[in-house]
Amino acid sequence: MRLKEKVAIITGAANGIGLAAAELFAKEGAKVVIADFDEELGTKRVQELTEKGYDVAFSKVNVVDRDSVDAMVKLTIDRYGHVDILVNNAGITRDGMLWKLSAEDFQRVLDVNLKGVFNCTQSVIPHMISQGSGRVINTSSVSGVYGNVGQTNYAAAKAGVVGMTKSWAKELGRKGINVNAVAPGFVETSMVATVPEKILDQLKTTIPLGRLGSPKDVANAYLFLASDESNYVNGITLHVDGGIMM
Ligand code: CAA
Ligand code: NAI
Repeated sequence: MRLKEKVAIITGAANGIGLAAAELFAKEGAKVVIADFDEELGTKRVQELTEKGYDVAFSKVNVVDRDSVDAMVKLTIDRYGHVDILVNNAGITRDGMLWKLSAEDFQRVLDVNLKGVFNCTQSVIPHMISQGSGRVINTSSVSGVYGNVGQTNYAAAKAGVVGMTKSWAKELGRKGINVNAVAPGFVETSMVATVPEKILDQLKTTIPLGRLGSPKDVANAYLFLASDESNYVNGITLHVDGGIMM
């Protein structure tokens, strides 16, 4: 098992990519805190995974709210004693062409997708520093790397995630903490389901592998960056996009 006895917090793990990662990490021996805004779904996921024999817990969190984030970290420490891995996976879209995008939708996406990553990492990091080890995995996106029509807010936040990842890799490397990002392409989750069919068909033609990604495709990349196999990997953005970025 690649994560035996490790403790992981995965934000946005009630659904999609985060949920696939929670199950994969648990299967690899980790104790997993499923941290999500959606209490009903999160509680259901914990029940399902517990029935499969995994050691998982739910924490209701709004990554935008620092008190709620601190409570998520406290719950993890109280229950499991330490925290080894943080996956900053929670994210939202509020797509719109630049000339139609409201200030509220711009700010909301920046708050969740960028400030949320900052909040969770800043709250967890004192524990990792004191134990002299840890892994932080941030979720960027192909949109943050090459831009995307209708995603001013989202692309800005996801590009910001890459910048924070590199800064933290430099700040935290000597403290035994590796910080990396994953930049998925278009993955079959509820997020992509919001894209009009005609546009999605057009986007698919840009993917060299010729298909959308699955949540498991991205979870496998998180697993690599959480495991000992990536001990000497720090500050990268791993593209998991079927070859869109090359
Ligand atoms: N790529 C290429 N062209 C796009 C596009 C895209 N992603 N999105 C929109 N367009 C084009 C449309 O085809 C249309 O072209 P024509 O004028 O030639 O017909 C033009 O832009 C305007 O689009 P709409 O007529 O749809 O304009 P709208 O104001 O009604 O809606 C929109 C705008 C909300 C951005 C809508 O087009 C949309 O939802 N587009 C998809 C945006 C997208 O790709 N989001 C990704 C979500 S998944 C995700 O975010 C995960 C990740 O990390 C990649
Ligand atoms: P999803 O919509 O299926 O799941 C996102 C989860 O985040 C949900 O369970 C939701 O409740 C939770 N969440 C939203 N706001 C939150 C908040 N403020 N606090 C706590 N939890 C919150 O999304 P998906 O597709 O699984 O995305 C996961 C991550 O991957 C996101 O960061 C997304 O931007 C990124 N991504 C997704 C891609 C895709 O094509 N699906 C492509 C590239 C990146």
